[in-house]
Amino acid sequence: MCLGNICRSPLAEGLFNQLTKKHKVSHLFDADSAGTSNFHKGEKPDARTIENARNHDLELRHFARQFNSQDFVTFDHILVMDQQNYLDVMEQTHDESNKLKVKLLREYDSHLPGADVPDPWFGGDEGFEEVYEIIHRSVLGFFEELTKKK
Ligand code: 4NP
Repeated sequence: MCLGNICRSPLAEGLFNQLTKKHKVSHLFDADSAGTSNFHKGEKPDARTIENARNHDLELRHFARQFNSQDFVTFDHILVMDQQNYLDVMEQTHDESNKLKVKLLREYDSHLPGADVPDPWFGGDEGFEEVYEIIHRSVLGFFEELTKKK
């Protein structure tokens, strides 16, 4: 989950699904991504995100969509990129078991656990690489946690 669903969360989705394929457990897990806003609904990821992902041998196939309350039913884990996303998602439910599903992605980052994934939208290309590294580390941490319990 992020704001626009065109920069950070499509990358997290792509990296997670690439990882489950690599470990031959893609039949057990499925990641999708969404935005708290509908600003970019139906759009492909930002061109800079697509290019950055390609530089890391990852093809992104997602089209932006807005988060909705059904996602609390469909998914076991809802990982958000920053504090604002966290507040926006938590506002959409009163159910305690739904609230427990929502976590900051960087809770799984070995560097700066619990920090925000910065929004690269207004910055330069180096911001996209920094975001890639953060999300890559965090998704790996999350995957390890998830498969440890299984
Ligand atoms: P994202 O980045 O939340 O990582 O997809 C953004 C994309 C678009 C906007 C903000 C953040 N926007 O304001 O349109």
